[in-house]
Amino acid sequence: LCKFELIRGLKGELLKQDEVAKFWNQNAEAWTKLSRMGCDIYRDHLNTPAFFEILPNINSLKGLDIGCGEGHNTRKAAQSGAKMSAIDISSEFLKYAEESEEKEPLGIEYKKANAIALPFGNNAFDFAMANMSLMDMPEIEKAIKEAYRILKPTGFFQFSILHPCFHTLAWEWIKDENEKPTALKCGNYFTELNGELEEWIFGAAPDELKQKYSKFRIPRFAMPLSKWLNLLIETGFTLEKFYEPMPDDETVKKYPSLSYTQVIAWFLIIRCRK
Ligand SMILES: C[S@@+](CC[C@H](N)C(=O)[O-])C[C@H]1O[C@@H](n2cnc3c(N)ncnc32)[C@H](O)[C@@H]1O
Repeated sequence: LCKFELIRGLKGELLKQDEVAKFWNQNAEAWTKLSRMGCDIYRDHLNTPAFFEILPNINSLKGLDIGCGEGHNTRKAAQSGAKMSAIDISSEFLKYAEESEEKEPLGIEYKKANAIALPFGNNAFDFAMANMSLMDMPEIEKAIKEAYRILKPTGFFQFSILHPCFHTLAWEWIKDENEKPTALKCGNYFTELNGELEEWIFGAAPDELKQKYSKFRIPRFAMPLSKWLNLLIETGFTLEKFYEPMPDDETVKKYPSLSYTQVIAWFLIIRCRK
């Protein structure tokens, strides 16, 4: 289980892009090593399978992964037949992505870039995707406009985010006498996050590695659901698909920390079309 702890001290001014990049550079080594060891249960056993379950056929299409991190999902898209490019603001994450590409080439082109100024021409891609990255960047509205710009007409943009209705500024799990989560208490829904930090580390990480690495520090940029949807609509996108992944009982039996995601939707996947 990822335990989130919101540090409320930073509230106020929007955190700047280069400061965000610094945090992600610091997170990159532990994030990459632990997730490649299988410690990112939420990604591997819920979010990414759901994302690819609803992704249209991308065989032979030209795609861009925005905020690709160490490239886990970029590689999956390339293995599904897409010709992938990928960008991230963190040079440290890109180092790991490029190392993987060198070891097992999939034809992926990685570039260090900011999602709000994509280094590609207009109408360059058949699709764009962003896995769990848009809510991690300032000026989300500019990133959405850029995704629109680089897509060919009728191209699609599919992205996953922390669910804006539940991952709010203030939240707390309610559990029964057996420590089983039964509900989520959440508030401050309308308070937008401007880079407030969350600190946590993958719950499935072995204790010695949890001690070795410091916790991830993640600046968050959240807004109410209506704002997300209106930004997409005002940019010119047509909303096409929503998905709130929920694991089945068998998966939860295998990975008990996923039980939280049977109580509420922790993730939201949206697909929209130019
Ligand atoms: C939670 S990680 C997700 C990484 C990857 N998509 C995955 O699913 O494993 C968020 C990523 O967004 C990147 N990021 C944050 N702000 C960005 C920006 N303005 N432009 C590009 N990438 C950004 C971070 O460096 C980080 O790699």
